[in-house]
Amino acid sequence: MCGIVGYTGPREAFDILIEGLKKLEYRGYDSAGLALQDGDRIRVVKAAGSIAALEKRVRGQIKPLQVGLGHTRWATHGRPTDENAHPHLSCCGNFAVVHNGIIENYSALRDWLRDEKGHVFRSETDTEVLAHLLEEFYAGDLLEALRRTAEIVEGSYAMAALSAHEPGRLVCARKDSPLIIGLGEGENYIASDITALLSHTRRAYILEDGEFASVTAEEVKISRAGGEILQKEVFTVKWDAVAAEKGGYNHFMLKEIMEQPTAVRETLRQRIDTAAGRVNLNELNFAPEELCALEKIYIIACGTAYHAGLVGKYAIEKLAGLPVEVDLASEFRYREPILLKQKHLVITVSQSGETADTLAALRLARRKGVRVLAVTNVVGSSVAREADEVLYTRAGPEIAVASTKAYLTQLIALYLVALYLGDLRKALPSEEAARLVRDLDRLPGLLKQILAEERLSELRAYADRLARWENAFFLGRNLDYAVAMEGSLKLKEISYIHAEAYAAGELKHGPLALITEGIPVIVLATQESILDKTLSNIQEVNARGGAVFAVIPEGRGEIARQVEGAFYLPPVKDLLAPVLSAVPLQLIAYYAAVARGCSVDKPRNLAKSVTVE
Ligand code: AGP
Repeated sequence: MCGIVGYTGPREAFDILIEGLKKLEYRGYDSAGLALQDGDRIRVVKAAGSIAALEKRVRGQIKPLQVGLGHTRWATHGRPTDENAHPHLSCCGNFAVVHNGIIENYSALRDWLRDEKGHVFRSETDTEVLAHLLEEFYAGDLLEALRRTAEIVEGSYAMAALSAHEPGRLVCARKDSPLIIGLGEGENYIASDITALLSHTRRAYILEDGEFASVTAEEVKISRAGGEILQKEVFTVKWDAVAAEKGGYNHFMLKEIMEQPTAVRETLRQRIDTAAGRVNLNELNFAPEELCALEKIYIIACGTAYHAGLVGKYAIEKLAGLPVEVDLASEFRYREPILLKQKHLVITVSQSGETADTLAALRLARRKGVRVLAVTNVVGSSVAREADEVLYTRAGPEIAVASTKAYLTQLIALYLVALYLGDLRKALPSEEAARLVRDLDRLPGLLKQILAEERLSELRAYADRLARWENAFFLGRNLDYAVAMEGSLKLKEISYIHAEAYAAGELKHGPLALITEGIPVIVLATQESILDKTLSNIQEVNARGGAVFAVIPEGRGEIARQVEGAFYLPPVKDLLAPVLSAVPLQLIAYYAAVARGCSVDKPRNLAKSVTVE
């Protein structure tokens, strides 16, 4: 996710753009920049680092200018550097563009622009092709040039541009990334979301996919690709500035839970080919023979990322036929693990890419000559820079300390690795792989179903009851046990209820002694292949008076009738069920923490990234 702000009007643009970007910093903060119209020139100032650093560097260095675009970046293609920061300029310097999203065919477009048309590229980003395309297509109307650009790019974009040829005019287009047009008196705005504009206006047009806008101080015109003008309804925002930053949600955690369908879709984008039924991880430069020679994989991580690794173990062992050992980074780094060059691969999983223990484990593996694949959410993070190869999750910035959308996209990344290895090592029949690829493609839609308003109320009611307890259990078998561990951590870390996760088959080996009248026991029972076993564990708990809340497949009413509460999941393969079953657990933890008046986004004693041992 990145943040875009634009302004055209009689006032000085610099402060409006800088303040607007600061309000969007939660959308990305690894670099920032401005493009300002200065007569028949465009002034671009941009740098890696925070918006505040950019402001400090530029304030007072530029004369008052009234039209401009601003951008704060969350890197997806190209490290956070000055050159990769937006805005990007065309060769002639007469076109500047900012963009949020992913241009999937940027590599082919760049080759064509460079080799056939002689354009010179300065950055590693996908976005820069847009600036050169505008220059290539400009024939006197900037909006027409933008339409032609939109016709040939593939992927997701909220893009905005200005040109030295057309003073005072901003143009923009939207596909799969949000963009709004703020409406003022004798001035108008563009922004990724209303948060950036609340101190200036609460009135806006919401651009829909496939819509374009031409914005001047006096006029806003919305149109479709074919040029037909649209009469849009003005949207008036009721939120306050703080709520707006959270997209209208009360906490970043809930906002990020709700972003999971998009985060999963973005992480899958370009990496699955549903028609061919295959995974495409060409961004990884492992030689096929290197991956085929592997005899074991280690997945090393901390906290929630470790729980994602437990799911990754099942996926890689099942789909690629490779033994996988999952370990906590803080244990792995001190236990002198057996690491064999060429025979072993280490996969580190880390949202922040800065977790000290995970980074230390990565360095240990590399010292032993073992190759490292990093699964991380932050481009240019320490883990990303030091690993041999990186598979980025594309969850966007995760602000809440409790990891949710990053966890789900880590699962997706590990499923992709498992399918990729299975294909390379011929361990997986192609028709089974094809079915799984299509099932992955359906996950964003299934997540949207689970996150529907009426489903949330069921979970909130249960969480309000759970909130009155100081102890709880999470049970599951197989993949359900891995997710039970994640659910237990979520509840512990934000509601401060002491929760323990156990393999359901372990209950009778001791923990059953703790099952007393009414104690909350959340049971994951999604694995059809062993459902009857988990059902017997539910009966063990019931027999001791425990109060079971079960996460179960749709249609298993007979289980629902035996428990205090149940949450039904839409049909999904056992292997992919964790992507869905984790969500009710995230929401139960969230609502329980709210009911207990906890600091949901910033729980006591915790930090978002544990960069110390
Ligand atoms: C997750 O809810 C926790 N905040 C924490 O366990 C986190 O997953 C862990 O610290 C690892 O962080 P990383 O993914 O950035 O390495």
